[in-house]
Amino acid sequence: MKKFEIISKEKLNDNITRLVIYCPLVARKARPGQFVILRTDEYGERIPLTMAGHNEADGTIVLIYAAVGRTTMLMDQMGVGDCFADIAGPLGKPTEMEGLKRVCVVGGGTGNALAYPIAAGMHDNGIKVDMIAGFKNKDLVILEEDFINNTDNTYVVTDDGSYGEKAFTTDKLKALLEQGNKYDEIVAVGPPIMMKFVCEIASQYGIKSVASLTAYMIDGTGMCGGCRVTIGGEDKFVCVDGPEFDGALVDWDELVMRNAYYKEQEAYDRAHVCRLTGGVRYSD
Ligand SMILES: Cc1cc2nc3c(=O)[nH]c(=O)nc-3n(C[C@H](O)[C@H](O)[C@H](O)COP(=O)(O)OP(=O)(O)OC[C@H]3O[C@@H](n4cnc5c(N)ncnc54)[C@H](O)[C@@H]3O)c2cc1C
Ligand code: FES
Repeated sequence: MKKFEIISKEKLNDNITRLVIYCPLVARKARPGQFVILRTDEYGERIPLTMAGHNEADGTIVLIYAAVGRTTMLMDQMGVGDCFADIAGPLGKPTEMEGLKRVCVVGGGTGNALAYPIAAGMHDNGIKVDMIAGFKNKDLVILEEDFINNTDNTYVVTDDGSYGEKAFTTDKLKALLEQGNKYDEIVAVGPPIMMKFVCEIASQYGIKSVASLTAYMIDGTGMCGGCRVTIGGEDKFVCVDGPEFDGALVDWDELVMRNAYYKEQEAYDRAHVCRLTGGVRYSD
């Protein structure tokens, strides 16, 4: 097998894909909650993706990505046997699990891809995990079987009720808390606005919250400042101090504003001309 070779590729829904990649040095050290930064080719942009799993014996890592722009669309055009130019990692701090007995993990949309290794990793470590996996509709549901097999209780909810229970993740979380479920921690992974409300609910019930932040990244080593966030009034870098932070301390408004900085450039990038086929694709 070649370094950074794609070993398998599987569509989880129209827009989300799971890749297994040969990457033995990263697989040897990977822990739940950590991510890699990859480039598709030598001219490629560096993008961060969470490791959704790893297998030290096989030397493989698992990535689950949504095709949203230039690089992820290029990844869509790669197939089994193709190799990435480089994959750096593992990066970021692993998920903290010490002292936890029971946790609720709340995933929203593509965030469920990032929530999965956290939920499964905690479950593997003997922590009782309730998983709330929320999606807009049935067509976007991913990883249901994986969640069921790797958590104690999985609740799939959809905004429009086309699959699972009709509810927002925040409604389901409130319902579980109202039913008397007690958690040591609530983990939120998804759109910032969802994470903000999940963390507020946790605070109302006196429960610690943890949010996994996806700020823009460039180097991934704490040097460029691209991923700066404010946590409890202090500057932190998602790539080296995170990606998981105390949800009650995150400056959510600043995070949303910083994530919108490059919207115009990305809108331009959404019209992608494929260098292999000449085809043009738009992300929305
Ligand atoms: C630590 C970390 C882990 C991540 N893990 C995953 C993962 O496991 N799976 C996954 O699908 N995505 C993940 N992301 C987001 C992923 O990095 C971006 O979707 C990717 O960089 C988009 O690149 P692009 O060139 O395809 O799109 P671009 O053209 O760069 O962007 C297209 C659209 O995606 C949005 N976007 C770009 N970067 C980010 C970002 N960092 N956070 C939120 N929205 C973004 C833009 O606002 C824009 O609307 C993660 C981000 C971070 C910081
Ligand atoms: S990505 Fe450069 S400081 Fe975090």
